[in-house]
Amino acid sequence: MADILKTVIDSETLHARVAELGAEITKRYEGKPLVVVCVLKGAFLFFADLVRHIKNEGLELDFVRMASYGNGTARGRQTIFNKDMEVDVTGKHVLLVEDIVDTGHSVEFLLEVLEKRGAESIRICAVIDKHERREVALTVDFAGFPIQKGFIVGYGMDYAEKYRELDAVYELVPE
Ligand code: IMP
Ligand code: MG
Repeated sequence: MADILKTVIDSETLHARVAELGAEITKRYEGKPLVVVCVLKGAFLFFADLVRHIKNEGLELDFVRMASYGNGTARGRQTIFNKDMEVDVTGKHVLLVEDIVDTGHSVEFLLEVLEKRGAESIRICAVIDKHERREVALTVDFAGFPIQKGFIVGYGMDYAEKYRELDAVYELVPE
């Protein structure tokens, strides 16, 4: 059975917003060297577009990949690194780039780790800020688009590894 994809954010709107976020980030970190971290795999397209709109002297880029284990609720899951960062963040300003913040658990894990490593500041940027299932009180400092609910694919986000390559954001509608 073919999945039904409903456009939530078209390509033009998406790219205009990414450019705006880049400008906001540029302004916020003026005169402060920044480490921008791509949370793989979902953020890969967003990250690639976003960093081209960030003007920052001393900009460093890095990548992490997480995995969560255990079944049942998000609360009972445990998050680990599949691939850790390589840049030393001690005393540095860090911006975490996510595809979507949902429950907030994976971002919470990263915040704790980076805090322990002595980052000077840690902020969060996500293309989609999804509120319905949030379990962790956190603020997405640079949010592309707030949405209430729904399962989202495209622009890096997948359903069983499909649809990541699409240059727009869709809701996967159950038949
Ligand atoms: P968390 O629940 O905030 O920890 O989100 C963890 C990860 O789940 C996100 O970074 C996404 O990779 C994935 N995710 C959450 N909601 C969606 C969705 O609607 N579509 C695709 N991936 C999702
Ligand atoms: Mg993700």
